[in-house]
Amino acid sequence: MVSYKKLGLVNTKKMFAKAVKGGYAIPAFNFNTMEQMQAIIQAAVETKSPVIMQVSKGARKYANPTILRYMAEGAVQYAKELGCKKPQIVLHLDHGDSFETCKSCIDSGFSSVMIDGSSLPFKENIKLTKKVVNYAHKHDVTVEAELGVLAGVEDEVQAEESHYTKPEEVIEFATKTGCDSLAISIGTSHGAYKFKPEQCTRDKKTGKLIPPPLAFDVLKAVEKKLPGFPIVLHGSSSVPQEHVDTINKFGGKLPDAVGIPEEQLRKAAKSAVCKINIDSDSRLAMTAAIRKHFAEHPEHFDPRQYLTPAREAMKELYVHKIVKVLGSNAKL
Ligand code: G3H
Ligand code: 13P
Ligand code: ZN
Repeated sequence: MVSYKKLGLVNTKKMFAKAVKGGYAIPAFNFNTMEQMQAIIQAAVETKSPVIMQVSKGARKYANPTILRYMAEGAVQYAKELGCKKPQIVLHLDHGDSFETCKSCIDSGFSSVMIDGSSLPFKENIKLTKKVVNYAHKHDVTVEAELGVLAGVEDEVQAEESHYTKPEEVIEFATKTGCDSLAISIGTSHGAYKFKPEQCTRDKKTGKLIPPPLAFDVLKAVEKKLPGFPIVLHGSSSVPQEHVDTINKFGGKLPDAVGIPEEQLRKAAKSAVCKINIDSDSRLAMTAAIRKHFAEHPEHFDPRQYLTPAREAMKELYVHKIVKVLGSNAKL
């Protein structure tokens, strides 16, 4: 058993309470590689922001769970080396799919876990979430749960009302499970294709897609039922057009990729939404930088040559999110 406290990590409890009160959101950036981890920490230190580094099941498979955990420990030391005396870094399991996965993360030094029972019937979701909460809280680890289903890239009908979190269920869910935060569905979804072209309107001048607005009425209703309770938004990448254009210009193929407009995330961050998940935007920034580098320097083959601009592009993106969208800067 490794306690996250020994690794210098923190759980989300105080961080979320401050964020809800202060009207900003904590960035939750996914990481799979050393370059992502370095860029996240550089951005958090430079902007004096608390940060959640999150690891998906796929990341654990790709990079190895032990390596990722030591990378998070290294991240704390790296932040200190960069001049941050008291870094506020959470190591979080993203979309935990079972009690066993959550337990394994808690036992190996995670300070926060998500148990994603959103695809289960309501009562089963409560049962599973409660089991994880009981174990996690014994170790002072915080738990994110999910209610409502985020539409997937493949779904026939996306952002349909029936997918949204039902506000009338949230009090019972939060009370019975004892979860520390709740991910809700208000129209965001994972990946770089959040809406189909037929769900959007087109800007007449540029021809770019304009997505439909998020269901802020659902968010408001949830906030009314659970005043001050920390709410989480998954699938919150904005899919920056500049990165999509660079990728397409240098041989990529991402037609009609579309994300959540930043002004909508800014609005959400000012509400009880205190954790905003971003993964795809970092993938796009990295891929755009690498594609551009390869096109401009076909003679290069040392990974450091193309991973350096890739890391810089991700850092720039993270700083932008922190300062211009989430407002979590200057909080340490
Ligand atoms: O929620 C999904 C995250 O973007 C993680 O994605 O499962 O491909 O690592 P992944
Ligand atoms: P994006 O695909 O929009 O970046 O969402 C990431 C996410 O929700 C991770 O849990
Ligand atoms: Zn997610």
